Amino acid sequence: MSTIIVVNGAYDWRPHLIGHEVVQVHLGRSRWLLDRGKLWVVDARGSYAPDAILWRIGAVDPAPMHRACLEMIRLSGLPCVNPADTLLTGYDRLGMLHALRQAGLPVVDFTVFAGAGALEVLEPDLPAVLKVGNLHGGLGKARALDAASWRELVALPDLSTTGYATAEPFIDYTRDVRCLAVGDDLWAMERRSPGWKANVGTNAHDIVPVPPALATWTRAAMTHLGADVLGLDYLESADGEFTLLESNDIPGVRGWPDSVPRAIARRLTAKLERT
Ligand SMILES: Nc1ncnc2c1ncn2[C@@H]1O[C@H](COP(=O)(O)OP(=O)(O)OP(=O)(O)O)[C@@H](O)[C@H]1O
Ligand SMILES: [Mg+2]
Repeated sequence: MSTIIVVNGAYDWRPHLIGHEVVQVHLGRSRWLLDRGKLWVVDARGSYAPDAILWRIGAVDPAPMHRACLEMIRLSGLPCVNPADTLLTGYDRLGMLHALRQAGLPVVDFTVFAGAGALEVLEPDLPAVLKVGNLHGGLGKARALDAASWRELVALPDLSTTGYATAEPFIDYTRDVRCLAVGDDLWAMERRSPGWKANVGTNAHDIVPVPPALATWTRAAMTHLGADVLGLDYLESADGEFTLLESNDIPGVRGWPDSVPRAIARRLTAKLERT
């Protein structure tokens, strides 16, 4: 029986991985070793030599250990969903945005600020959205409607400790659509909330037909990033134009049909069978 390590995440993957030993480990509570090319993961319950990895650390600012473990997975050559290469590209928000631009996707315009006081040097066109660090779930993101609120916002982050920040135009969108790809399969979800962040306090999320343009772009991103699974967040404006905000390489599965986690698990087991 092969051993599949699920790293973090709250979802129970066992029903989709019948016939495999599924061990869930948490990065903060485990130790990782790569010895003569073989990967070992040790926690309070025992030590495991995984045959495959399901990497589910999403929605957190990546810690240095994340990168180390991803590099160890890459060195070990073990099958991993997403591949460690893809996860390392997505590790940093600017790197991820660069890759999406290279793939020809309609990435939102953004200004980047680094260094203490950088935000005070230049005021972007307003209204703008300020995004600090590499956080998810709406964290580290605030909107400035006018110059006075921009001046308030720039006083909050200390870029000498948080790293860079970006500012992008606020898009007065009519639809917030996440397009999710697993292999060749695609789904789309429209999210709504009372506020401007559709992913915060979401009170409606509907599976909708995948808009053809999003299908093309999302597939291009999958190919460019060599990904098994991606969630791309798009905004549609009143004139029907789509803008891409970001790509999530560890997209959540809650709220999506059961076929989504099943497809993710199948992707991993197919890779395992090929090794
Ligand atoms: N420039 C913008 N204009 C208008 N709305 C925006 C803009 N940027 C973000 N939003 C809103 O805020 C939500 C969250 O933004 P974004 O996807 O960039 O960050 P996130 O919190 O990291 O998301 P996730 O939880 O998907 O990782 C978007 O889905 C969108 O509804
Ligand atoms: Mg998002």
